[in-house]
Amino acid sequence: MPVTKKEENDTNILSIDIGGTSIKACVLNSKGDLLSEFTKVPTPVKSTPEAVLKCVKELVATLNQPFERVSIGFPGYVKNGKVQTAANLAKNKWTDVDLAQQVSDIFGKPVRLINDADQQALGIVTGKGFEIVFTVGTGFGTALVFDGELLPHLELAHLPITKTKDYDDYIGTKAFEKIGKEKWNERLARIIEIYKTVFNYDTLYIGGGNSKHITLRLDHNIHLVTNKDGIKGGAKLWELEEKYHVFTIHPAKK
Ligand code: BGC
Repeated sequence: MPVTKKEENDTNILSIDIGGTSIKACVLNSKGDLLSEFTKVPTPVKSTPEAVLKCVKELVATLNQPFERVSIGFPGYVKNGKVQTAANLAKNKWTDVDLAQQVSDIFGKPVRLINDADQQALGIVTGKGFEIVFTVGTGFGTALVFDGELLPHLELAHLPITKTKDYDDYIGTKAFEKIGKEKWNERLARIIEIYKTVFNYDTLYIGGGNSKHITLRLDHNIHLVTNKDGIKGGAKLWELEEKYHVFTIHPAKK
């Protein structure tokens, strides 16, 4: 993706995407154009808040572009700038973590923190009708958007789908490695059928690291997307009105 060379305005956004496998960051202008490389590093093995913050600091130092605001997509349940769960990071270490405040204090800039699939979805959807975004990676990300409005985040990854498995167990990377591509595609087909019946979406987008393994024939209203398609989401997040799941955290006064 081309990087816009010249940078002038003071509304640049540092966009961070924290994932179970990698942490990605880039600087965007307010329209969502890339002003830096889209850089990624592996998520630390013991991904405690401290380890993730250290990684974010190091990553951002390599981007070499000024920014005035920060967007963060996080792989778990987030409310009012605080993380409540993170099933695929260090379990039990992320309850009530004021991640937005900590990042805001590190960089001295305002921060908006939302779920990772929600942030990607903001960059992907067209704003027409009921659009759903899946991210199939380490975990199963979902975002619901109606006429362009991001609906409150639901942790659909943790609904049960068999007697012993939730969606993360059923379709996440661990399952992919265990059952292989063919069975994994069958599972994805089952999930799509469930969503068709339950949600009656107008359009479904499927992205995330494992979407490259999809061999299914997809209906005309299902589209594959890449991580790069979701990048603009970090800029779109700052266009949203503040609502309980979209919340701006400012640096603490020193
Ligand atoms: C988490 C979701 C997240 C998804 C993709 C799941 O384990 O519960 O919040 O969006 O993984 O990262």
